[in-house]
Amino acid sequence: MSTENIKFAYWVPNVSGGLVVSNIEQRTSWDIDYNRKLAQIAENAGFEYALSQIRFTAGYGAEFQHESVSFSHALLAATTKLKVIAAILPGPWNPVLAAKQLATIDILTEGRVAVNIVSGWFRGEFTAIGEHWLDHDERYRRSKEFIEALKGIWTQDNFTYRGDFYRFSNYSLKPKPLQQPHPEIFQGGSSRAARDMAASVSDWYFTNGNTVEGIKAQIDDIRAKAAANNHQVKIGVNAFVIARDTEEEAKAVLAEIIAKANPDAVNAFGHEVKNAGASSPEKEGNWAKSTFEDLVQYNDGFKTNLIGTPQQIAERIVALKAVGVDLILSGFLHFQEEVAYFGEKVLPLVRELEAKKLAKAA
Ligand SMILES: Cc1cc2nc3c(=O)[nH]c(=O)nc-3n(C[C@H](O)[C@H](O)[C@H](O)COP(=O)(O)O)c2cc1C
Repeated sequence: MSTENIKFAYWVPNVSGGLVVSNIEQRTSWDIDYNRKLAQIAENAGFEYALSQIRFTAGYGAEFQHESVSFSHALLAATTKLKVIAAILPGPWNPVLAAKQLATIDILTEGRVAVNIVSGWFRGEFTAIGEHWLDHDERYRRSKEFIEALKGIWTQDNFTYRGDFYRFSNYSLKPKPLQQPHPEIFQGGSSRAARDMAASVSDWYFTNGNTVEGIKAQIDDIRAKAAANNHQVKIGVNAFVIARDTEEEAKAVLAEIIAKANPDAVNAFGHEVKNAGASSPEKEGNWAKSTFEDLVQYNDGFKTNLIGTPQQIAERIVALKAVGVDLILSGFLHFQEEVAYFGEKVLPLVRELEAKKLAKAA
């Protein structure tokens, strides 16, 4: 097991409607004042990262969406320790714009920006904004070139690159970002193409919620391939956290979220995400096997089962760490209150269990 403490990130609610496709009451807002305060609560609670979302159009509840890079900068300006991961979609962005924009933000925020390269699953969004929709594996081939170009621009002078999607000739970015060798690069997915990209170019691999066994299988696969490529990649797993003083209360909240789910929106989302994993050549990947209940949370976050008392959740987090997870990406119903509760009640138990395990191993 890693000797490093497991890290915690939260989803930035920069789109409206929260993280569940349900009519349950959510005391979460997508506006900047709410989000600034949330970021401050999170960094004080022990969260190291915040992940903002990129969306260009409404879909299944996310009627309003703030742009991810500019919103991330605002959160960085309101905090002092938190790293904010800005999401970028190849297509609307090209690597040189992303590299320049993020290098400037990195300098302005003393080295606290990171990036999530999104490969896309929402065909309707691409059509709406006039972007060409590539086949599943082509989207990842483009993302891989995007990441290679980003790294090249950030670390080299006279950068020259000849890809199928991007070309550079003797380009020198000045100034370079502050973080060395470069700001951390995250990506999401579960499909073969997503894993292969993680095993060759990404610093971090994010995956949808899953069981410990399902996550272990993915990690073993990625780490074996990464080792063959002489590459190291860290793993983040999505989880929708419902921590309550009793297990009954936590389970009742889950039951209410699902009972109040909006069936038309969940089914429409389920239909749309078939453009993701299910459209990959191997027909696996994100959402390929998701049930109606799983889809009520955008990224299968109930499956990770961080739903229960602080003690139960802490034990399950340490079990995830034991199979190789480096970071828990968490979503909540009422973000401000629940991030604070997590920091107060769950995180200290995780640190205790980690210390006990390390002492035992020694
Ligand atoms: C943690 C995480 C965060 C993601 N963030 C976004 C996002 O902000 N915007 C978006 O359009 N897609 C987002 N995605 C979707 C992925 O970039 C990718 O398109 C999707 O997971 C398809 O995976 P697949 O290849 O396994 O089917 C995210 C995925 C994960 C796992």
